[in-house]
Amino acid sequence: MKKGRIFSGIQPTGVIHLGNYVGAIQQWVKLMHDYDCIYCIVDYHAMTLEYEVQTLRDNIREAAITLLACGLDPEHCTLFVQSRVPEHTELTWIFNCLSPIGDLERMTQFKEKSQQHREDINMGLLGYPVLQAADILIYKAGFVPVGEDQVQHVELTRRIARRFNNRFGETFPEPQEVLTPTSRIMGTDGKTKMSKSLNNYIGILESPEAIWEKLRTSVTDERRIRRTDPGDPGVCNLFTMHKVFSSPEDIARINRECRTAEIGCVECKKILFNNMMAHLEPIQQKARQLRDNPDAVLSALDEGAGRCKKMAEQVMQEVRAKTGIRQTVPTV
Ligand code: AMP
Ligand code: TRP
Repeated sequence: MKKGRIFSGIQPTGVIHLGNYVGAIQQWVKLMHDYDCIYCIVDYHAMTLEYEVQTLRDNIREAAITLLACGLDPEHCTLFVQSRVPEHTELTWIFNCLSPIGDLERMTQFKEKSQQHREDINMGLLGYPVLQAADILIYKAGFVPVGEDQVQHVELTRRIARRFNNRFGETFPEPQEVLTPTSRIMGTDGKTKMSKSLNNYIGILESPEAIWEKLRTSVTDERRIRRTDPGDPGVCNLFTMHKVFSSPEDIARINRECRTAEIGCVECKKILFNNMMAHLEPIQQKARQLRDNPDAVLSALDEGAGRCKKMAEQVMQEVRAKTGIRQTVPTV
């Protein structure tokens, strides 16, 4: 018996980085066996910033390959591309009419993105979290595994669900976010959240040489200027990554020897690199295999879209009827 339904999504914006992997995808894989999991490549969301058409096509395929390589198994979860189920946008319209603009203007991600792209603050960027709410609620999902940056959007989803239920009768659950202990990975600059747009990321499919170069030059505890200065693992992003990729013995040793300056940052980074590559190498190998077998990827996406289409259509029938844009409520 599955414990409930999970929905989560990722934008096909190029690389999938360690922040995505540690903050979200790793737990998507873990949750797959205990929950009814639906995972989505959110291409409509990726249209809110200017993009190249061919690049989006490539990125959607590449995101699917990466997710499957990370261990999502189409036998145990549903993986699909958002735009294959256009009912998401239909529900978005209805939710738009229940979403005060003030709520949307207050969203941190909107504020950040509209700062970064002053020349292109479009309706899609403002309405982005409404589409996200529709993604989740069209499957009546109860749980949403995401990184910390998305918690605000899940809260907004709950508010939209509540408003809909109050106006039109009990229909949607109020979904809960599911966070990992490391729900926020900082970038190689050590200061800001790892993110594609800030170019401070380490892509999980990058070559070992590229990954080492990025780790080697990553910012650690900035107060540790000389090799002999003691450091504080508590404020070091690299230590956060050790907690994900290293053995308990390595973690305990680094925690101890960093504080006493017995171990230097370079050695600490080498240990992290080796442990990280031991973890990433099988993923990279699987990705190479999948790239040589595009039919397997496409058929997983097709099957996922078919399943989601049926579920979404059923909920939309209920929503259309309850909101008055259809005459009768279906009896399901
Ligand atoms: P996105 O790439 O924005 O579509 O994000 C996909 C998932 O990765 C979401 O659940 C995010 O919360 C998560 N995520 C993105 N960046 C980070 C980060 N730096 N640390 C932790 N989680 C992240
Ligand atoms: N907005 C999410 C992000 O940037 C991606 C996303 C879209 C999502 N729809 C979702 C996440 C639904 C969870 C549930 O990471």
